[in-house]
Amino acid sequence: MTPLSTKLSSRSSHLSSYPADWLVAGVFQDSPVDAELDGMLGGALTKLRESGDLTGKHLELVPMLNVAGIGAKRLLLVGLGNRSNTSRSTLHDAFAAALRSITGKRISRVIVALPERLPLDRLATTLAVGVGTIQGCYGPGIRKSEPSRFAPEEIVFYAAFEDEFLDRIRAEGTALTFAKELVNAPPCDLYPETFAARIAENPNVECEIWDEKRLRDERMGAILGVAEAASRPARLAILRYRNAGNAPTLALVGKGVTFDSGGLSLKTNDQMADMKCDMAGAAAVAAAIHAAADLGLKVNLLGIMPLVENMPGGRALKLGDVLKARNGKTIEVLNTDAEGRLILADALAYAAEQKPGHIVDLATLTGSCMMALGTQIAGVMSNNEEWSNRLIATAKRAGERLWPLPMDADFAENLKSNVADIKNVGANRYGGAILGGKFLEQFVAGIPWAHLDIAGPAWADHDSATKDAGGTGAYVRTLIELAASYSV
Ligand code: BES
Ligand code: MN
Ligand code: ZN
Repeated sequence: MTPLSTKLSSRSSHLSSYPADWLVAGVFQDSPVDAELDGMLGGALTKLRESGDLTGKHLELVPMLNVAGIGAKRLLLVGLGNRSNTSRSTLHDAFAAALRSITGKRISRVIVALPERLPLDRLATTLAVGVGTIQGCYGPGIRKSEPSRFAPEEIVFYAAFEDEFLDRIRAEGTALTFAKELVNAPPCDLYPETFAARIAENPNVECEIWDEKRLRDERMGAILGVAEAASRPARLAILRYRNAGNAPTLALVGKGVTFDSGGLSLKTNDQMADMKCDMAGAAAVAAAIHAAADLGLKVNLLGIMPLVENMPGGRALKLGDVLKARNGKTIEVLNTDAEGRLILADALAYAAEQKPGHIVDLATLTGSCMMALGTQIAGVMSNNEEWSNRLIATAKRAGERLWPLPMDADFAENLKSNVADIKNVGANRYGGAILGGKFLEQFVAGIPWAHLDIAGPAWADHDSATKDAGGTGAYVRTLIELAASYSV
C-alpha cells in the first residue's frame, strides 16, 4: 500500500499560537459554537451566528481569511448539521468536503479540530473526522500536467486522543486512498499482473499469485474462460494475514475485472467508459487486508482476488460455451458481459474449500443493483440472515450503507440451463442483481456468505461536495470495521 505523503499527528494545546495554513473546525446547527475557539477569536463565531452567516447546516463552508487570535492564518468552519443526528457518515462527509475545498492550493500544515463535546464515542468520532479529512485530501488528478489537488504536508488533529486512534486513522485513510488510486489507475497501467504486483508488498501479509499455468492446474476454468481473448493474462491473487491462532478465518473475495468491455456481448461506448472501475471489489479487499495487518488486528483473514480483463477477440468466450468451475459445476455462458459471476465462481469455490468461518464477496456485479438502490447503497445478498444482518450493522457503524435483497429459492429457476448445471444469465433482466446473487450462492458450499453488489457506490461519475469523481474506496471502512469486530 502506498503510504500517505501527509504526516499525521495530534496535539492538545496551543491552538492560539500553533502556526498553520488552516484551522478546520466543525459547527453544529443545534448547539452553541465552540466556546474555546470563540473566545480566542474575540466572539467572532457568535457574531457570525447572530448575523445568520454561520448556521452549521451540514456541509456549509465558511472560510475566514486573516483571522486574529489563533496561530493558523486562516479558519474554515464546516457545518456538521444537528448534533442529535450525527453519524460517522455525516462527520466524515463534512470533513471530506472541508478538506476538498482547501486542497486546491499547495499548503503545508492543516490543524483539524475535533468537536468540543464528542457527538459519538471517541473512536467513531476520531475515525469519522480523521478518515473524512484524508478522503478530502487525495484526488484523481495525479496524471494532469498541473495537479488539481495538493495533499497537505502535515495534518494535526487537535484533541487529546490515544496514539492507537491515530494509527487507525492512518491505516484506514491509507487503505481508502489506496483503493481509490487502484480504481482510478488507467487500464493500460493496471491489468491483472500489475494489480497483483501492487498489492503484494507487505511484510506482514503473505501473498501468492497464480499465473495461467497454475490456474489451469487448479481447475479454475471460469477465470481462464473469461480471460481467453485478452492480451493481458489472468491472475489469481491470494492474501493471507494470520494473527489469531486457530480462530476461524474471515474470507474476503473481490471481483477484479481490470477492464470490462463486455466481451463479445460488447458494451456500448457509454456503458464501457468507466469500466476500469470493475476491479473495485478486489481493490477494497486488498486495501482492507493491508490495513488490518498494519494495525496488527488479532484476526485471520484470507483474501481472494480473481483478476482478468474481459475482452472480445478471435479466441473470446462465445455464447453457448460451457465452462467448468473449480467446484466441478458446469456453466453455460449466454452473455459474456456477465463475467464477474464467472470469475467469482472459481474464487468463491476456492475460498469455501479453505473452510473459513464466513465469506464476504464485493463485486461491481450488476447495473440492476444500481437501478434498485441507486448509486450510494450496495445490495446485500446472503445465504445466512444472521451474517447479513451483522454486515449491515457493521457498515452502519462504519458510516456506509447496505440494503438486503431477497434470496428466495424460486429466483434460481431462472438460471436453469438445458445443457449445463447452470447458466450465467436469466431469460430477461428482471431481478438482475438477485440472479447474480443466486448464481454466486451455488459456489460457497453452504458456508455463511454475503455478496455485496457495489456497482453503484464504487464509482462517482461526477465531482460532488464530498467526493471527487472516480473511485470512491467504498466499503473499505466497512471491511476494516468487520475485520476489527471479527478479531479475537
Ligand atoms: N461490470 C458490470 C456491472 C456494472 C455496471 C458495474 C455499471 C458498474 C457500473 C458487469 O460485469 C455487467 O456487465 N453486468 C451486466 C449483467 C447482465 C449481462 C446480466 C449488467 O449489469 O448489465
Ligand atoms: Mn460485464
Ligand atoms: Zn463486470
